[in-house]
Amino acid sequence: MSITVTFLDPRGKPVVAEAEPGDNLLRLGQAAGLPLEGTCEGQMACSTCHVIVAAEWFERLPLASEEEEDMLDFAAGARRTSRLSCQIELTAGMDGLTVSIPAESNDLRRM
Ligand code: FES
Repeated sequence: MSITVTFLDPRGKPVVAEAEPGDNLLRLGQAAGLPLEGTCEGQMACSTCHVIVAAEWFERLPLASEEEEDMLDFAAGARRTSRLSCQIELTAGMDGLTVSIPAESNDLRRM
């Protein structure tokens, strides 16, 4: 079964991508051509994979780890529903997920 994810690019333009359970949200967004750098490749060391999850979806995702929360504190434009996309593994229950890509990102490794 495929999972449909809608990304809103930094200008708010929707980009729809199809995924399979087990796919990673960062990789899916990158494959769809979205500006998600993911510089540290999922090591939770950069926050350039930051996305803002639609409010109705935020509660339905598995909770962020403490390390992820700490890293989100440094993400540019972080909001209450921010997540690191590299930490989200897609499941069948996430069909219809919508996330926004913030206009700016911080690569902590460049600070
Ligand atoms: Fe660096 Fe997600 S890719 S924190």
